Amino acid sequence: MDVSEAIRTRRAVRSYADRDVSEKTIQELFESVRLAPSARNDQSWRFVAVTENDRLGALYDASFEQRAVDEAPVVIAGISTTPTDTMRCGIETGPVDLAIALDHLSLRAVEMGLGTCWIGSFDQERVTELLDVPAEWQVIELMTLGYPDGELAPVEKDRKPLADIFGFETCPK
Ligand SMILES: Cc1cc2nc3c(=O)[nH]c(=O)nc-3n(C[C@H](O)[C@H](O)[C@H](O)COP(=O)(O)O)c2cc1C
Repeated sequence: MDVSEAIRTRRAVRSYADRDVSEKTIQELFESVRLAPSARNDQSWRFVAVTENDRLGALYDASFEQRAVDEAPVVIAGISTTPTDTMRCGIETGPVDLAIALDHLSLRAVEMGLGTCWIGSFDQERVTELLDVPAEWQVIELMTLGYPDGELAPVEKDRKPLADIFGFETCPK
């Protein structure tokens, strides 16, 4: 599978087969995360893969009882260790770095027959406590992971036309 096909095939998977994801597979996925770029190559991030049932159940509660979190055999947390750092453009590095890293993961997952769903709707304090994240760090995003219940195939996506969002030279309005 090439990158273009992985991009077209990835979709938010909220329903998962009753099948575990092996530690070896999870570690292979994180090799793609490890190679992701970051601002100043700081790599000021940590990642946690939650697989134990009790902790998964607590994460389900802490993310407002979403189906994807209920069904997924693995929930990943992307954590910034420097959440107040900014680039010279004034934008925080943490959310940018973590989004790139987890996007690497989501595309590599497709190639390996796995599905993911970004989870930004969660209680920061409860997840921080549950995963024993130091108070000065910040959980940027959660992501569910598992084998999809159903086929993963390129889908027509509900997206704005290119002409609305892209232009040469100046910003399209
Ligand atoms: C930053 C971010 C946060 C998201 N948070 C949630 C979430 O909390 N729960 C959920 O079910 N989907 C969540 N999503 C998934 C989006 O709803 C989904 O990606 C979007 O509708 C496009 O659909 P697609 O991923 O199937 O292409 C999130 C996506 C992103 C990028």
